[in-house]
Amino acid sequence: MRDGQARAIHLQDYRAPDFRVERVALDVDLYEDHAIVRATLAMQRSGAADAPCRLDGVGLTLEQLQLDGADWPSTHYHYDGEVLTLEGVPDRFVLATVVRLAPQLNTELEGLYRSNGMFCTQCEAEGFRRITFYPDRPDVLSRFVTTVRADAVRYPVLLSNGNPIAQGEEGGRHWVTWEDPFPKPSYLFALVAGDLSCQEDRYVTGSGREVALRLYAEPQDLDKLDHAMASLKASMLWDEQAYGREYDLDIYMIVAVSHFNMGAMENKGLNIFNTSCVLAHPKTTTDAGFQRVESVIAHEYFHNWSGNRVTCRDWFQLSLKEGFTVFRDQCFSADMNSAAVKRIEDVDMLRAHQFPEDQGPMAHPVRPQSYQKIDNFYTLTIYEKGAEIVRMLHTLLGADDFRRGSDLYFERFDGQAVTTDDFVACMAEVSGRDLAQFKRWYSQAGTPQVTVSGELEGGRYRLSVHQQTPPTPGQPDKQPLLIPLRLALLDGAGHHLPLNAQGDTELLLELTEPQQQWEFALPPGVERVVPSLLRGFSAPVMLAGEDSEAALRHLLTHDDDGFCRWDAAQRLYRAAILRLVDATGRAAEEAAQLAPAMKAVLAGAGEDAAAAALLLALPSATQLADSLPEFDIAAVQQAHDALAAALGHALATDWWQVLERWAPVGEYQPVAADIGARALYQQAASYLAATAQPEIGDVMVRRFAEADNMTDQLGALRLLVHERLQGADAALADFARQWQHEPLVMDQWFGVQASAPWQTAAGIEALLEDARFDWATPNRVRSVLGQFSNANAVAFHRADGSGYRLFASALQRLDQLNPQMAARLAGACGRLGRLPAVQQHALREALQQLVRQPLSGNLDEVLTRILA
Ligand code: PHE
Ligand code: ZN
Repeated sequence: MRDGQARAIHLQDYRAPDFRVERVALDVDLYEDHAIVRATLAMQRSGAADAPCRLDGVGLTLEQLQLDGADWPSTHYHYDGEVLTLEGVPDRFVLATVVRLAPQLNTELEGLYRSNGMFCTQCEAEGFRRITFYPDRPDVLSRFVTTVRADAVRYPVLLSNGNPIAQGEEGGRHWVTWEDPFPKPSYLFALVAGDLSCQEDRYVTGSGREVALRLYAEPQDLDKLDHAMASLKASMLWDEQAYGREYDLDIYMIVAVSHFNMGAMENKGLNIFNTSCVLAHPKTTTDAGFQRVESVIAHEYFHNWSGNRVTCRDWFQLSLKEGFTVFRDQCFSADMNSAAVKRIEDVDMLRAHQFPEDQGPMAHPVRPQSYQKIDNFYTLTIYEKGAEIVRMLHTLLGADDFRRGSDLYFERFDGQAVTTDDFVACMAEVSGRDLAQFKRWYSQAGTPQVTVSGELEGGRYRLSVHQQTPPTPGQPDKQPLLIPLRLALLDGAGHHLPLNAQGDTELLLELTEPQQQWEFALPPGVERVVPSLLRGFSAPVMLAGEDSEAALRHLLTHDDDGFCRWDAAQRLYRAAILRLVDATGRAAEEAAQLAPAMKAVLAGAGEDAAAAALLLALPSATQLADSLPEFDIAAVQQAHDALAAALGHALATDWWQVLERWAPVGEYQPVAADIGARALYQQAASYLAATAQPEIGDVMVRRFAEADNMTDQLGALRLLVHERLQGADAALADFARQWQHEPLVMDQWFGVQASAPWQTAAGIEALLEDARFDWATPNRVRSVLGQFSNANAVAFHRADGSGYRLFASALQRLDQLNPQMAARLAGACGRLGRLPAVQQHALREALQQLVRQPLSGNLDEVLTRILA
């Protein structure tokens, strides 16, 4: 390892801080080749009388240190490169430090760094300590006043948190002082300096306060901010209506930066966004991109309450803000678009990515017990499973009690740093429920497996349910969870049966034991019962049952729960593909079996094209391979593609009809109905493309050339390239020429190639060596290495091991520049233990060789877990 001994931090070791910071004044002087940071901290002892004062500081060059206005003798302090220890300090004192930084050399994108021509910061989780000496922990809240100084011509815009209170200019340099009236932890600090354009608007809160909304981007991107602005206003209104939460400052600012490790950051009053999550224009952004912008804008805005006003006591509580905020942004997007479609997309993402995480070497509880590098714990488990836990609370309590619980939480803990226990306690208090068992969801890792069987006998239907959570690293024995199971029963005609004396047709069952049974008295004459289970995906579990294909077809046809219908379709496709894998089925016959149900979906597509597109989509080969004991992606992909081709032939007429009926008309708009139409068109086209008939190639070439928006253009390009249709190479070349000046579009150009199933290690290497590739830009790195390792399992896991060797050497190179990125990408190797022997051997060898190199602590932690 490169950066010293790995040290694990444990939740049980948490101690309140010895010193608080009452006020902090920062003065940041920015130059081309360095920056000077002067910090003045009003410190107050809050712990033991003899405790030394310890401040975090990573890689800082200390130029001056004064206590209460006088130089502090060097015998009284010690800096080991990570912690500055001051001995013998009084109970109250003012500490003044001056440090020197080199932001222009910062490629880790943590702390103060440069992106294109601007300066910006990223402090969560522990980046503030790379800017100045400070107790860099979320339970130290303080009021910040920040002065930013820079060259007036190069950096006309100088920003920090809160409101500007003073400014001046002198000798070609200028400065602005910002004051943030709300006490905040250091991870929410931000500053920006640059030559930025601004789109400005305003929002009047429910109580009549006017808020200036300012979105900043580089001048060439000023035309791509409309959607973010509209989304921001919608989010502000929604949080008032859904949670009674108003914005609290006079200004809300968002800055778009090209170099960013994550999606975006909720710094108080000054969000910093990855350009990919804020810029949107029909010509350069896909529908998925528009929806991503809407949801990330909402997510960061909602953090102002769930995260900033009420923050986390320590980083073990990360899901307190992230799980809750993801749940909030999911509900917002559901309200803005189609709720059923949004739920299906979220569940699909959870099952495709969080479930494997929870079953692999990186599995950890939503509230982890220990970690080495907190950056490695910004995971799907913390975010998405955390959101499912909050959703289950909503389901169990009902909307009204949930809202009362959240009101109580925000009121009681406003301005404080708290825990997930505090959150659940509010929910327990308002509802009068005992949530002790429920809290195991936070402490127990792994995906619970729920098995159901039903029995119809003597006018009664008996449902037997069994739960079990498999062991995960460090947690061999699991306890039963409280699992909310939403249920309905359909009869042979597809009608909902009454489930109790009140005639309810949907019930919420609470599974609390390893094994439980429920009985329902049926109306006379019922001869067939098909259960509709886990409606709305009421708990993040794997559900197994003895569902016959007839039952699944019944659900697909009759169920009124969007998730259950879609899941029934997924199970039908899955069964067909698995029969092709073990050679008990034939593609043409399977397609013929599936055709009537799919035709029925198409016949009803007029009502909701987006839902139809989802119902017609096969589960990915990766997801199917994940559900098998051995991850044999090559075999599953082959079966998957064979079925797709067979369905392309069997329903050819229907697919061509879709292409006619749902062809684009009118001006592009990123609204649900149009998005659905485009998705359905793309789905039909992809079935036709799977047949590799030349006609569909011609249509795609034309669509590519004529498209007036990125969704259609990229959709066509993807099919041309992935299916290697005639005209693919020319389209790739045209695309690169057309979009050479749009980095986010060029990311797509790289991504389409890196995710092509025919891709080879040599092909990926060529992309990495392309002059337009850049190791220092995370979006570009993700578009090649992320797509290859995460979205192209068949190429990545090629049996000759070439993908692994290439990936390992790329990780090593990336790790020198950006350890967080390298560690995140390395997670793709988490399937190691489930690979076929040949692949397992090759991957292990590649990773073992890598881990012997001098690596960052971030990458080392992930590789060590995977290889354990
Ligand atoms: N807190 C950010 C969010 O979820 C994510 C993030 C984490 C960004 C760490 C940067 C660094 O909105
Ligand atoms: Zn967040």
